[in-house]
Amino acid sequence: MQIESLRGYKMIQKAKLLKEHNLYPFFRKIEQSEGTDVIVDGQPMIMIGSNNYLGLTHHPYVKEAAIKAIEVFGTGCTGSRFLNGNLTIHEELEDKLASYLGHEKAMIFATGMQTNLGALSAVCGPKDLMIFDSENHASIIDSSRLALGTTLKYKHNDMESLEEVLSENVSRFQNTMVVADGVFSMTGDILNLPDVVRLAKKYGASIYVDDAHGIGVMGDRGRGTMNHFGLTKDVDLNMGTFSKSFASIGGVLSGNADVIDYVKHTARSFMFSAAMAPSSVATVSACIDVILSDETIHQRLWSNVDFMVKGFKEIGFYTYNSKTPIIPVFIGDDMKAMQVTNYLKECGIFCTPVISPAVPKGEALIRTSYMATHSKEQLSKVLEVFKDAKEKFEIPSTLH
Ligand SMILES: Cc1ncc(COP(=O)(O)O)c(C=O)c1O
Repeated sequence: MQIESLRGYKMIQKAKLLKEHNLYPFFRKIEQSEGTDVIVDGQPMIMIGSNNYLGLTHHPYVKEAAIKAIEVFGTGCTGSRFLNGNLTIHEELEDKLASYLGHEKAMIFATGMQTNLGALSAVCGPKDLMIFDSENHASIIDSSRLALGTTLKYKHNDMESLEEVLSENVSRFQNTMVVADGVFSMTGDILNLPDVVRLAKKYGASIYVDDAHGIGVMGDRGRGTMNHFGLTKDVDLNMGTFSKSFASIGGVLSGNADVIDYVKHTARSFMFSAAMAPSSVATVSACIDVILSDETIHQRLWSNVDFMVKGFKEIGFYTYNSKTPIIPVFIGDDMKAMQVTNYLKECGIFCTPVISPAVPKGEALIRTSYMATHSKEQLSKVLEVFKDAKEKFEIPSTLH
Protein backbone atom coordinates (compact mmCIF):
# COMPACT_ATOMS: atom_id res chain seq x y z
CA MET A 1 0.00 0.00 0.00
CA GLN A 2 1.26 3.44 -0.99
CA ILE A 3 0.51 5.25 2.26
CA GLU A 4 1.74 8.59 0.85
CA SER A 5 -1.07 8.53 -1.69
CA LEU A 6 -3.84 8.02 0.86
CA ARG A 7 -6.30 10.80 1.60
CA GLY A 8 -5.39 11.15 5.29
CA TYR A 9 -1.62 11.08 4.85
CA LYS A 10 -1.16 14.76 5.76
CA MET A 11 -2.98 14.12 9.02
CA ILE A 12 -0.60 11.30 9.87
CA GLN A 13 2.39 13.55 9.24
CA LYS A 14 0.85 16.18 11.53
CA ALA A 15 0.30 13.53 14.23
CA LYS A 16 3.95 12.40 13.95
CA LEU A 17 5.17 15.96 14.38
CA LEU A 18 2.98 16.48 17.44
CA LYS A 19 4.24 13.23 18.99
CA GLU A 20 7.85 14.35 18.44
CA HIS A 21 7.07 17.56 20.38
CA ASN A 22 5.17 15.69 23.10
CA LEU A 23 2.01 17.57 22.19
CA TYR A 24 -0.11 14.73 20.76
CA PRO A 25 -3.41 14.89 22.69
CA PHE A 26 -5.28 11.87 21.30
CA PHE A 27 -5.61 8.19 22.30
CA ARG A 28 -4.55 8.94 25.89
CA LYS A 29 -4.54 5.75 27.91
CA ILE A 30 -6.89 5.97 30.89
CA GLU A 31 -5.72 3.48 33.49
CA GLN A 32 -8.54 3.95 35.95
CA SER A 33 -11.78 5.93 36.03
CA GLU A 34 -14.27 6.99 38.65
CA GLY A 35 -16.17 9.22 36.25
CA THR A 36 -15.04 12.73 37.16
CA ASP A 37 -11.57 11.48 38.20
CA VAL A 38 -9.29 9.47 35.96
CA ILE A 39 -5.71 8.30 36.10
CA VAL A 40 -3.46 8.73 33.06
CA ASP A 41 0.22 7.73 33.18
CA GLY A 42 -0.14 7.39 36.94
CA GLN A 43 -1.34 11.00 37.18
CA PRO A 44 -4.77 11.79 38.73
CA MET A 45 -6.76 14.10 36.47
CA ILE A 46 -10.15 15.82 36.53
CA MET A 47 -12.14 14.65 33.52
CA ILE A 48 -13.78 17.48 31.58
CA GLY A 49 -13.54 15.79 28.20
CA SER A 50 -16.23 13.12 28.31
CA ASN A 51 -19.92 12.91 27.38
CA ASN A 52 -20.89 11.30 30.67
CA TYR A 53 -23.22 14.23 31.40
CA LEU A 54 -25.18 12.58 34.20
CA GLY A 55 -22.15 10.77 35.60
CA LEU A 56 -24.04 7.49 35.55
CA THR A 57 -21.19 5.23 34.37
CA HIS A 58 -20.27 4.55 37.99
CA HIS A 59 -23.70 4.68 39.65
CA PRO A 60 -24.05 1.61 41.95
CA TYR A 61 -27.62 0.77 40.81
CA VAL A 62 -26.59 1.01 37.15
CA LYS A 63 -23.48 -1.14 37.61
CA GLU A 64 -25.46 -3.78 39.49
CA ALA A 65 -28.09 -3.94 36.72
CA ALA A 66 -25.35 -4.51 34.12
CA ILE A 67 -23.78 -7.30 36.16
CA LYS A 68 -27.16 -9.00 36.73
CA ALA A 69 -27.89 -8.95 32.98
CA ILE A 70 -24.60 -10.72 32.30
CA GLU A 71 -25.53 -13.38 34.85
CA VAL A 72 -28.89 -14.02 33.13
CA PHE A 73 -28.06 -13.53 29.43
CA GLY A 74 -24.26 -13.81 29.22
CA THR A 75 -21.89 -11.26 27.72
CA GLY A 76 -23.10 -11.06 24.13
CA CYS A 77 -25.97 -11.85 21.75
CA THR A 78 -23.78 -13.40 19.02
CA GLY A 79 -26.13 -12.39 16.27
CA SER A 80 -28.52 -9.86 14.79
CA ARG A 81 -31.82 -9.03 16.49
CA PHE A 82 -33.45 -10.08 13.21
CA LEU A 83 -32.27 -13.66 13.56
CA ASN A 84 -30.98 -15.12 16.82
CA GLY A 85 -30.06 -12.11 18.98
CA ASN A 86 -33.44 -10.68 20.03
CA LEU A 87 -33.76 -10.74 23.83
CA THR A 88 -36.79 -9.94 25.97
CA ILE A 89 -34.82 -7.05 27.51
CA HIS A 90 -34.25 -5.49 24.05
CA GLU A 91 -38.00 -5.25 23.52
CA GLU A 92 -38.67 -4.12 27.10
CA LEU A 93 -36.12 -1.33 26.69
CA GLU A 94 -37.71 -0.25 23.39
CA ASP A 95 -41.12 0.07 25.08
CA LYS A 96 -39.58 1.94 28.02
CA LEU A 97 -37.78 4.36 25.68
CA ALA A 98 -40.89 5.02 23.58
CA SER A 99 -42.86 5.93 26.68
CA TYR A 100 -39.98 8.00 28.15
CA LEU A 101 -39.43 9.95 24.93
CA GLY A 102 -43.16 10.37 24.14
CA HIS A 103 -43.13 8.73 20.71
CA GLU A 104 -45.34 5.85 19.58
CA LYS A 105 -42.55 3.34 19.05
CA ALA A 106 -38.78 3.02 19.51
CA MET A 107 -36.10 0.64 18.25
CA ILE A 108 -32.54 0.21 19.48
CA PHE A 109 -29.34 -0.21 17.47
CA ALA A 110 -25.90 -1.38 18.60
CA THR A 111 -24.40 2.15 18.30
CA GLY A 112 -25.53 5.70 17.63
CA MET A 113 -23.46 5.77 14.44
CA GLN A 114 -25.31 2.68 13.19
CA THR A 115 -28.62 4.33 14.09
CA ASN A 116 -27.96 7.28 11.80
CA LEU A 117 -26.40 5.21 9.02
CA GLY A 118 -29.22 2.65 9.05
CA ALA A 119 -32.22 4.88 9.66
CA LEU A 120 -31.38 7.69 7.25
CA SER A 121 -30.30 5.41 4.42
CA ALA A 122 -33.52 3.41 4.92
CA VAL A 123 -35.89 6.39 4.78
CA CYS A 124 -34.16 8.38 2.02
CA GLY A 125 -35.06 6.68 -1.29
CA PRO A 126 -33.81 7.57 -4.81
CA LYS A 127 -36.47 10.27 -5.33
CA ASP A 128 -36.04 11.82 -1.87
CA LEU A 129 -34.10 14.76 -0.47
CA MET A 130 -32.33 15.17 2.89
CA ILE A 131 -31.39 18.69 4.00
CA PHE A 132 -28.56 18.78 6.56
CA ASP A 133 -27.35 21.48 8.93
CA SER A 134 -23.74 22.18 7.89
CA GLU A 135 -22.47 21.19 11.34
CA ASN A 136 -24.23 17.85 11.55
CA HIS A 137 -22.32 14.92 13.03
CA ALA A 138 -20.10 12.73 10.83
CA SER A 139 -22.48 9.78 11.15
CA ILE A 140 -25.23 11.83 9.46
CA ILE A 141 -22.86 12.92 6.72
CA ASP A 142 -21.84 9.30 6.16
CA SER A 143 -25.49 8.23 5.94
CA SER A 144 -25.81 10.35 2.81
CA ARG A 145 -23.11 8.20 1.20
CA LEU A 146 -25.31 5.15 1.78
CA ALA A 147 -28.69 6.72 1.01
CA LEU A 148 -29.90 6.56 -2.61
CA GLY A 149 -31.43 10.04 -2.51
CA THR A 150 -30.00 13.55 -2.72
CA THR A 151 -28.44 15.57 0.10
CA LEU A 152 -28.19 19.35 0.37
CA LYS A 153 -26.93 21.54 3.20
CA TYR A 154 -28.02 24.79 4.85
CA LYS A 155 -25.84 27.15 6.91
CA HIS A 156 -25.50 26.15 10.54
CA ASN A 157 -28.70 26.91 12.48
CA ASP A 158 -29.52 29.62 9.93
CA MET A 159 -33.24 29.51 9.20
CA GLU A 160 -33.09 31.87 6.21
CA SER A 161 -30.61 29.51 4.61
CA LEU A 162 -32.84 26.50 5.42
CA GLU A 163 -35.85 28.25 3.87
CA GLU A 164 -33.85 29.05 0.74
CA VAL A 165 -32.87 25.38 0.29
CA LEU A 166 -36.43 24.22 0.99
CA SER A 167 -38.14 26.69 -1.33
CA GLU A 168 -35.75 26.01 -4.21
CA ASN A 169 -35.79 22.23 -4.02
CA VAL A 170 -38.82 20.64 -2.37
CA SER A 171 -40.88 20.47 -5.58
CA ARG A 172 -38.20 18.39 -7.34
CA PHE A 173 -38.44 15.50 -4.87
CA GLN A 174 -40.98 12.99 -3.61
CA ASN A 175 -40.17 13.40 0.10
CA THR A 176 -37.99 15.96 1.89
CA MET A 177 -36.52 15.54 5.37
CA VAL A 178 -34.67 18.16 7.41
CA VAL A 179 -31.95 16.44 9.44
CA ALA A 180 -30.12 18.20 12.27
CA ASP A 181 -28.40 17.66 15.61
CA GLY A 182 -30.55 18.68 18.60
CA VAL A 183 -27.48 19.85 20.55
CA PHE A 184 -24.43 20.38 18.35
CA SER A 185 -21.55 18.25 19.55
CA MET A 186 -18.67 20.74 19.24
CA THR A 187 -20.19 24.15 19.98
CA GLY A 188 -22.92 22.95 22.34
CA ASP A 189 -25.53 25.18 20.73
CA ILE A 190 -29.16 24.10 20.50
CA LEU A 191 -31.07 23.55 17.26
CA ASN A 192 -33.66 26.23 16.51
CA LEU A 193 -36.31 23.53 16.45
CA PRO A 194 -39.36 25.84 16.61
CA ASP A 195 -38.34 27.47 13.32
CA VAL A 196 -37.37 24.14 11.78
CA VAL A 197 -40.88 22.86 12.61
CA ARG A 198 -42.48 26.03 11.20
CA LEU A 199 -40.54 25.75 7.92
CA ALA A 200 -41.00 22.00 7.62
CA LYS A 201 -44.78 22.48 7.92
CA LYS A 202 -44.73 25.32 5.37
CA TYR A 203 -42.88 23.23 2.77
CA GLY A 204 -44.29 19.78 3.61
CA ALA A 205 -41.01 18.34 4.87
CA SER A 206 -40.48 15.90 7.73
CA ILE A 207 -37.95 16.26 10.56
CA TYR A 208 -35.19 13.98 11.91
CA VAL A 209 -33.37 15.11 15.04
CA ASP A 210 -30.05 13.56 16.11
CA ASP A 211 -30.25 14.17 19.84
CA ALA A 212 -27.10 12.31 20.87
CA HIS A 213 -26.12 15.17 23.21
CA GLY A 214 -29.65 16.25 24.12
CA ILE A 215 -31.16 12.98 25.30
CA GLY A 216 -30.73 12.59 29.05
CA VAL A 217 -29.85 16.29 29.32
CA MET A 218 -32.44 18.58 27.74
CA GLY A 219 -36.14 18.89 28.53
CA ASP A 220 -38.17 17.37 31.33
CA ARG A 221 -36.03 14.67 33.00
CA GLY A 222 -33.78 14.51 29.94
CA ARG A 223 -36.48 13.69 27.41
CA GLY A 224 -34.47 15.63 24.87
CA THR A 225 -34.44 18.72 22.69
CA MET A 226 -37.90 18.04 21.20
CA ASN A 227 -39.33 17.92 24.73
CA HIS A 228 -37.37 21.04 25.73
CA PHE A 229 -39.31 22.96 23.07
CA GLY A 230 -42.62 21.12 23.63
CA LEU A 231 -42.39 19.82 20.05
CA THR A 232 -42.16 16.05 20.53
CA LYS A 233 -45.14 15.35 18.29
CA ASP A 234 -43.70 17.53 15.50
CA VAL A 235 -40.48 15.56 15.21
CA ASP A 236 -41.04 12.63 12.85
CA LEU A 237 -37.93 10.68 13.82
CA ASN A 238 -35.71 11.28 16.84
CA MET A 239 -32.46 9.47 17.47
CA GLY A 240 -30.30 9.33 20.55
CA THR A 241 -27.18 7.52 21.65
CA PHE A 242 -26.47 5.59 24.80
CA SER A 243 -22.76 6.45 24.63
CA LYS A 244 -23.23 9.71 26.51
CA SER A 245 -25.83 10.35 29.25
CA PHE A 246 -26.90 6.70 29.22
CA ALA A 247 -23.50 5.48 30.31
CA SER A 248 -23.16 2.67 27.78
CA ILE A 249 -23.15 2.10 24.04
CA GLY A 250 -26.04 1.84 21.58
CA GLY A 251 -28.61 4.05 19.90
CA VAL A 252 -32.35 4.64 19.76
CA LEU A 253 -34.67 5.72 16.97
CA SER A 254 -38.24 6.75 17.86
CA GLY A 255 -41.28 7.86 15.90
CA ASN A 256 -44.45 6.55 14.30
CA ALA A 257 -44.98 2.77 14.77
CA ASP A 258 -45.24 1.97 11.03
CA VAL A 259 -42.07 3.92 10.19
CA ILE A 260 -40.13 2.22 13.00
CA ASP A 261 -41.36 -1.18 11.78
CA TYR A 262 -40.26 -0.24 8.25
CA VAL A 263 -36.77 0.75 9.48
CA LYS A 264 -36.55 -2.51 11.48
CA HIS A 265 -37.02 -4.43 8.23
CA THR A 266 -34.83 -2.31 5.97
CA ALA A 267 -31.96 -0.67 7.90
CA ARG A 268 -28.88 -2.62 6.94
CA SER A 269 -26.81 -1.54 9.96
CA PHE A 270 -29.59 -3.01 12.14
CA MET A 271 -30.27 -6.22 10.21
CA PHE A 272 -26.70 -7.16 9.38
CA SER A 273 -24.99 -6.37 12.66
CA ALA A 274 -25.13 -8.05 16.06
CA ALA A 275 -27.54 -6.90 18.76
CA MET A 276 -26.71 -4.58 21.63
CA ALA A 277 -25.04 -6.57 24.45
CA PRO A 278 -27.24 -7.53 27.44
CA SER A 279 -25.17 -5.51 29.94
CA SER A 280 -25.57 -2.39 27.78
CA VAL A 281 -29.33 -2.91 27.51
CA ALA A 282 -29.65 -3.27 31.28
CA THR A 283 -27.41 -0.22 31.83
CA VAL A 284 -29.64 2.01 29.72
CA SER A 285 -32.79 0.72 31.39
CA ALA A 286 -31.27 1.36 34.84
CA CYS A 287 -30.18 4.87 33.78
CA ILE A 288 -33.80 5.70 32.93
CA ASP A 289 -34.88 4.42 36.37
CA VAL A 290 -32.31 6.68 38.05
CA ILE A 291 -33.28 9.69 35.92
CA LEU A 292 -36.96 9.20 36.75
CA SER A 293 -36.40 8.69 40.47
CA ASP A 294 -33.57 11.12 41.31
CA GLU A 295 -34.89 14.65 41.16
CA THR A 296 -31.51 16.16 42.00
CA ILE A 297 -29.55 14.79 39.05
CA HIS A 298 -30.60 17.50 36.58
CA GLN A 299 -30.46 20.23 39.23
CA ARG A 300 -26.83 19.25 39.92
CA LEU A 301 -26.01 19.13 36.20
CA TRP A 302 -27.47 22.57 35.42
CA SER A 303 -25.95 24.10 38.54
CA ASN A 304 -22.53 22.90 37.34
CA VAL A 305 -23.16 24.19 33.81
CA ASP A 306 -24.16 27.58 35.22
CA PHE A 307 -21.09 27.68 37.44
CA MET A 308 -18.76 27.00 34.51
CA VAL A 309 -20.46 29.36 32.04
CA LYS A 310 -20.20 32.19 34.60
CA GLY A 311 -16.67 31.17 35.62
CA PHE A 312 -15.32 31.20 32.05
CA LYS A 313 -17.07 34.52 31.40
CA GLU A 314 -15.47 36.09 34.48
CA ILE A 315 -12.01 35.01 33.36
CA GLY A 316 -12.74 36.41 29.89
CA PHE A 317 -12.93 33.33 27.68
CA TYR A 318 -15.16 33.18 24.62
CA THR A 319 -17.42 30.13 25.02
CA TYR A 320 -19.75 30.46 22.00
CA ASN A 321 -22.68 31.45 24.26
CA SER A 322 -23.17 27.78 25.08
CA LYS A 323 -25.98 27.02 27.53
CA THR A 324 -25.50 23.26 27.58
CA PRO A 325 -23.03 20.93 29.36
CA ILE A 326 -20.76 21.23 26.29
CA ILE A 327 -18.76 24.42 26.79
CA PRO A 328 -16.26 25.08 23.99
CA VAL A 329 -13.40 27.41 24.88
CA PHE A 330 -12.11 29.44 21.94
CA ILE A 331 -8.33 29.38 21.52
CA GLY A 332 -7.70 30.36 17.86
CA ASP A 333 -4.46 28.90 16.55
CA ASP A 334 -4.21 25.09 16.15
CA MET A 335 -0.74 24.82 17.66
CA LYS A 336 -1.70 27.05 20.58
CA ALA A 337 -4.70 24.77 21.25
CA MET A 338 -2.27 21.82 21.45
CA GLN A 339 0.03 23.70 23.80
CA VAL A 340 -2.81 24.81 26.06
CA THR A 341 -4.22 21.26 26.15
CA ASN A 342 -0.78 19.99 27.12
CA TYR A 343 -0.48 22.62 29.85
CA LEU A 344 -3.92 21.63 31.19
CA LYS A 345 -2.80 18.00 31.17
CA GLU A 346 0.32 18.84 33.17
CA CYS A 347 -1.95 20.60 35.67
CA GLY A 348 -4.22 17.55 35.98
CA ILE A 349 -7.09 18.52 33.64
CA PHE A 350 -8.21 16.04 30.97
CA CYS A 351 -9.77 17.62 27.88
CA THR A 352 -9.18 17.60 24.14
CA PRO A 353 -8.65 20.24 21.46
CA VAL A 354 -10.70 20.60 18.28
CA ILE A 355 -8.54 21.82 15.42
CA SER A 356 -8.82 22.25 11.65
CA PRO A 357 -10.25 20.66 9.55
CA ALA A 358 -12.88 19.82 12.23
CA VAL A 359 -13.28 23.61 12.72
CA PRO A 360 -12.23 26.43 10.32
CA LYS A 361 -8.53 27.37 10.43
CA GLY A 362 -7.87 29.95 13.15
CA GLU A 363 -10.91 28.81 15.15
CA ALA A 364 -9.36 26.00 17.19
CA LEU A 365 -11.09 25.38 20.49
CA ILE A 366 -10.89 23.20 23.54
CA ARG A 367 -14.10 21.25 24.00
CA THR A 368 -14.96 21.01 27.68
CA SER A 369 -18.01 19.21 29.09
CA TYR A 370 -19.51 18.82 32.53
CA MET A 371 -21.25 16.18 34.60
CA ALA A 372 -23.88 16.21 37.33
CA THR A 373 -21.27 14.47 39.51
CA HIS A 374 -18.49 17.08 39.29
CA SER A 375 -17.95 18.78 42.65
CA LYS A 376 -17.67 22.55 42.85
CA GLU A 377 -14.11 22.03 44.20
CA GLN A 378 -13.16 20.16 41.03
CA LEU A 379 -14.74 22.83 38.86
CA SER A 380 -13.03 25.66 40.77
CA LYS A 381 -9.69 23.93 40.19
CA VAL A 382 -10.48 23.69 36.45
CA LEU A 383 -11.24 27.44 36.30
CA GLU A 384 -8.07 28.28 38.22
CA VAL A 385 -5.92 26.36 35.73
CA PHE A 386 -7.72 27.90 32.73
CA LYS A 387 -7.15 31.35 34.23
CA ASP A 388 -3.40 30.70 34.43
CA ALA A 389 -3.43 29.32 30.88
CA LYS A 390 -5.19 32.43 29.58
CA GLU A 391 -2.36 34.68 30.76
CA LYS A 392 0.45 32.29 29.92
CA PHE A 393 -0.70 31.68 26.33
CA GLU A 394 -2.38 35.06 25.70
CA ILE A 395 -5.68 33.47 24.70
CA PRO A 396 -8.08 35.96 23.07
CA SER A 397 -11.42 36.84 24.70
CA THR A 398 -13.37 37.15 21.46
CA LEU A 399 -13.80 34.98 18.38
CA HIS A 400 -11.89 37.32 16.04
C1 LIG B 1 -24.28 14.09 17.29
C2 LIG B 1 -23.83 12.66 17.32
N1 LIG B 1 -24.53 11.75 16.64
C3 LIG B 1 -24.17 10.46 16.62
C4 LIG B 1 -23.06 10.01 17.31
C5 LIG B 1 -22.66 8.56 17.24
O1 LIG B 1 -22.96 7.94 18.46
P1 LIG B 1 -22.21 6.64 18.99
O2 LIG B 1 -21.00 7.08 19.71
O3 LIG B 1 -23.23 6.03 19.90
O4 LIG B 1 -21.90 5.78 17.82
C6 LIG B 1 -22.31 10.92 18.05
C7 LIG B 1 -21.12 10.47 18.79
O5 LIG B 1 -20.17 11.14 19.01
C8 LIG B 1 -22.70 12.28 18.06
O6 LIG B 1 -22.00 13.19 18.73
